[in-house]
Amino acid sequence: MTASGNTGAHETGTSQLLSFDGSAEAIRRNSQWMAGGVNSNFRLNISPTPLVIERGEGPYLYDIDGNRLIDYYLGMGPMILGHNPAALTEAAKTQIEHGILFGGQTQVEAEAARLVCEMVPSAERMRFGGSGSEVDQAAIRLARAATGRKKIIKFEGHYHGWFDNVLWSTAPAPEAAGPREAPAPVAGSKGQLTDTSDTLVVLPWNDLDLLDARLAKGDIAAVIMEAAMCNAGAVHPLPGYLEGVREACTRHGTILIFDEVITGFRLAPGGAQELFGVTPDISTFGKAIANGFPVAAIVGRADLLDMFSTGGVVHGGTYNAQPIAMAATVATLKSLQPALYEEIGVTGTKLMDGMRAIFERQGIRAVVEGFPQIFHVAFGLDQPARDYRDLALMNRQAYVAFTTALLHRGVRALERGAWFMSIAHDDAVIERTLEAVDGAVSQIKADGAI
Ligand SMILES: Cc1ncc(COP(=O)(O)O)c(C=O)c1O
Repeated sequence: MTASGNTGAHETGTSQLLSFDGSAEAIRRNSQWMAGGVNSNFRLNISPTPLVIERGEGPYLYDIDGNRLIDYYLGMGPMILGHNPAALTEAAKTQIEHGILFGGQTQVEAEAARLVCEMVPSAERMRFGGSGSEVDQAAIRLARAATGRKKIIKFEGHYHGWFDNVLWSTAPAPEAAGPREAPAPVAGSKGQLTDTSDTLVVLPWNDLDLLDARLAKGDIAAVIMEAAMCNAGAVHPLPGYLEGVREACTRHGTILIFDEVITGFRLAPGGAQELFGVTPDISTFGKAIANGFPVAAIVGRADLLDMFSTGGVVHGGTYNAQPIAMAATVATLKSLQPALYEEIGVTGTKLMDGMRAIFERQGIRAVVEGFPQIFHVAFGLDQPARDYRDLALMNRQAYVAFTTALLHRGVRALERGAWFMSIAHDDAVIERTLEAVDGAVSQIKADGAI
């Protein structure tokens, strides 16, 4: 797949810096109807302004100021095929001719389910849901029902959706979180129920001894984790860690849940569990499963998933397996062949290496770590992070100055440091991105932002 052509919009690579006044004005105006002018808190507080987008094509977004931007948000991760791929839009158009929502089953959802079960190593059985947050709730409920225990272990810096019981210690200020070995749970939102003593234990990730010791008390229903920590960064599990976690969970009668909402269908056709060769009891998927359509999935051991049908565990959702989204899921999953991952492997590596070379040449202390399909840039670190506390040492202020300077040069990258790649980001797009990176680094140095 190649990047689509020029449409006369203001572009990356031109010496003139792009402006976003139209977006800023629209956000102000739209705030009279939508709180903050946006529909998710994670789209707020973006420098210089949250953007208002007109359309997407391949690696590009076109905003209402007439700018063409190389996009590394990719919808916060889903668009592994790039924006608006023809196979998907055709599948959705064909399906909509048959109707919109039935409150019954369709053969297209069965086809999507079959593909998921074939692609994901641990998927003996599955159910579709509407969002990653929802299926994470379903996974925790299943684990509690199966074990008769209440408590779950989650890890600092790992994100499992925005609901009360899991929005803890996702991005805590280290000074509020206590010692690394025994972190205090830190709430992510006002209005959250605050008593976690009965339900939640927070631990540092990538530390098997601490986990094993806590599991030994025998009261943990589930361990939930991103198998590679990709929401806060793009951090690899230490060699042997996932295997050790698997073994410890089995030994202590605890359900192991991999939250593959980011890693699923992105790191490999079968997600992190395929890449690392470790099989969870339950795992959850979203994002890349349908390249931007609102689809999520919970998959796992048949005896656990069948508790939804015969074990008295409830899982619902009016929009689950919405047929148009299911047609898009089938089209996406059929496109996710091994060659696609090899191709992104080459272009993603080229981008990571190119950035490392620029940072080195320009004298910027930075770590570029992760995977070619999703990686992370952290200013101010000398070595790859092992856990959230390591990542928290990065220079966030300088990084936001960097992404702001990049945006003015036509490259849209997340302020939290993650870069999502797609098959539509070809060599020419990578070259233009690297030019913009070089220019942005020069600017933040000249401005004294780093
Ligand atoms: C690892 C992980 N789990 C769960 C979620 C929640 O998914 P959603 O935003 O679809 O509710 C996200 C979202 O970013 C995520 O990154």
